Amino acid sequence: MEKNQLLDEFRKCREDPEYFISNYIKVTHPIRGLVPFRLYPFQQRILSEIEGHRFSILRKFRQAGCTTIAAAYSLWTITFQKHKSVVILSKGDAESTEVLDRIKLMYDELPSFLKPGIIEDNKHTLKLKTNSVIKSRPSGKQSGRSLAGSLLIIDEAAFIENIDTIWAAVYPIISTGGRAFVLSTVNGIGNWYHDVYQKALDGGNSFHPIDIRWKEHPEYNYNPKFEHLYEIMREKGLDIHKWEETTRANMPNKQWLQEYECSFLGTGDTYIEGEILRALASQTSEDFYTKHNNRMRVWQEPHPQYTYLIACDTSLGRDRDYSAFHIINMYNGQQVAEFYSNRTAINDFAKILATEGMLYNIAYIICERNTIGNNLIDWLNNVYEYENLWDDERGDIGFQVTAKNRDSILADLEEAIRIDLIKINSTRTCDELMTFIINEHGKVEAEKGYHDDLIMSLALAVHAYKHLIETTPLEFVSRLPQINTPAMPSKDYKIKIKTQSGMMTEEDYKWLMK
Ligand SMILES: Nc1ncnc2c1ncn2[C@@H]1O[C@H](COP(=O)(O)OP(=O)(O)OP(=O)(O)O)[C@@H](O)[C@H]1O
Ligand SMILES: [Mg+2]
Repeated sequence: MEKNQLLDEFRKCREDPEYFISNYIKVTHPIRGLVPFRLYPFQQRILSEIEGHRFSILRKFRQAGCTTIAAAYSLWTITFQKHKSVVILSKGDAESTEVLDRIKLMYDELPSFLKPGIIEDNKHTLKLKTNSVIKSRPSGKQSGRSLAGSLLIIDEAAFIENIDTIWAAVYPIISTGGRAFVLSTVNGIGNWYHDVYQKALDGGNSFHPIDIRWKEHPEYNYNPKFEHLYEIMREKGLDIHKWEETTRANMPNKQWLQEYECSFLGTGDTYIEGEILRALASQTSEDFYTKHNNRMRVWQEPHPQYTYLIACDTSLGRDRDYSAFHIINMYNGQQVAEFYSNRTAINDFAKILATEGMLYNIAYIICERNTIGNNLIDWLNNVYEYENLWDDERGDIGFQVTAKNRDSILADLEEAIRIDLIKINSTRTCDELMTFIINEHGKVEAEKGYHDDLIMSLALAVHAYKHLIETTPLEFVSRLPQINTPAMPSKDYKIKIKTQSGMMTEEDYKWLMK
């Protein structure tokens, strides 16, 4: 190229990062080896959205080329702009070195007229003669100041443990003119990344949300414009039309939802699987009235024909924890009422329970027999002389939750939800389930800052419900084809019945629910 042409080319690259990247950056493709980084349309979109906004947050699927885009954009920044500092924050040391190695490879592959020359080159830093620098850092013990720069890139933010503290420390510094690009694969709900992304969607912060879908990636979903790629894939024995089927078959559904469908809902480490939570959330009902000063929601009044069960979790009623109970229709497993309050003293709670118990056909009441639970049992048994309190095999009133049986009653709860043995009406209960997680030590608990009182009481309800339908000769029990099938299906109200002639027929029970 002539000198003038080179100058023109240099200018074009400086003005347009996409032109620079697509024409001069090379990357290592897992199948094709070292190839030009020709951006796919969804990747062009990511780039222009980062360019157009000071703060952006990207929700990505796996292997979308996003770290590579961040790397190439960082290189463009330090190649064509003076005195800029780009900080890339990755989860660990291995990730931070790896991303800088990719950038160095990109730099090495540039034609010499686009290389400003290197001032500093080590494991975590690349500084060019433009006096601009890329610092690639592991999240570990970073202070806010060490991350300050013109552009902060946070890769796989949902997997960085102390990211909220890091962000709080760096924000005051970059808020005065710096830029930030946060990207991540989804990792459940309730973490910093999830919060920021959700707020960005609602316009509740300065971040611009960027959303991409795996179907946009031509290596995952057939696109006739990329026939040349499929030829190479075929040579390697890969069929684009089978990509989805094969990938899904090779991983648990939950992982697929999280890593490719970018599904936030209850994915990550929630105790109940995301799909199930999603279905549950769509079946809740706002059609309730309240009583006891808004503390109780009622979906269905007591009906003389039914037997009911009340399961409760007790707190001291001094702001911190909540006292909660559910009223369950024993006939169909439906939650017909829910009580929830952190300001109800035990004697008051006992009074409400006794009143509601009487109202709901002298319902069974099951309470946890812990320190405060004993107190509640005392009130119900001795003061209100409530006559239908649940007792265990040994004849002791209440149910003692231990470390051992806690896992099994929670497993029963999970199963009951999964197979529709119970129907939850309350969004409040659903919300608690969405923040009920398996932590990194394998313990099942509410995420920090969230509660599990509605869940623990629901687990007790399921325990008692299962026990009662197994052991009580109630009329409806004989109608159960098997124990795992709800007495009356709660989703579509249809149930399969064997006729006298032995044929199967379907009956609609909706009228019963009215
Ligand atoms: N347009 C493209 N042309 C050629 N190779 C590409 C292209 N986009 C991505 N790649 C290659 O795809 C692979 C995945 O890219 P990258 O690691 O940047 O994705 P990611 O979204 O960060 O993935 P992960 O979920 O693993 O973090 C890399 O080998 C990269 O070089
Ligand atoms: Mg990556």
